[in-house]
Amino acid sequence: MIKVLFVCLGNICRSPTAHGVFESKSINEAVMIDSAGTAAWHIGKAPDKRSQLAAKQRGYDLSHLSARQVAAEDFSDFDYILAMDKANLKTLQDSCPRKYQHKLALFLDYAEGSEQEVPDPYYGGDSGFNHVLDLIESASDGLLKHLFKRP
Ligand code: 4NP
Repeated sequence: MIKVLFVCLGNICRSPTAHGVFESKSINEAVMIDSAGTAAWHIGKAPDKRSQLAAKQRGYDLSHLSARQVAAEDFSDFDYILAMDKANLKTLQDSCPRKYQHKLALFLDYAEGSEQEVPDPYYGGDSGFNHVLDLIESASDGLLKHLFKRP
């Protein structure tokens, strides 16, 4: 069982989207998925309505998810801890024990395009949420290929 944690800032837009998309794409694989935020602001909240709607339009259900903050045990518990942007990767690197640093990476390292970060859509318009989905779908396909040698 491979355990994957997706991390953003608030755990209400990008990482729950990654959680739902990767969960849907990896349905028949031995993988455990979770998501978390580096910030504590939205603990217990459902994903942002705009993220839920954009995801639903592509067939992904995020309604069962609720926000939590990254915890110290995550560094030992998960095999892959994938940040949506460099700022959140840095936050993780600053609190992760040295022996687990190799688990940390940018999620878009697995995507096809040239973008390195999933931009924060929180203060923008609807197109931002669709762009988040484009990037996350590409990275999810790449991660599946990496983990399970899918064609
Ligand atoms: P996320 O987006 O990190 O993708 O969940 C954000 C959600 C909330 C805030 C910032 C980013 N906020 O400032 O409350």
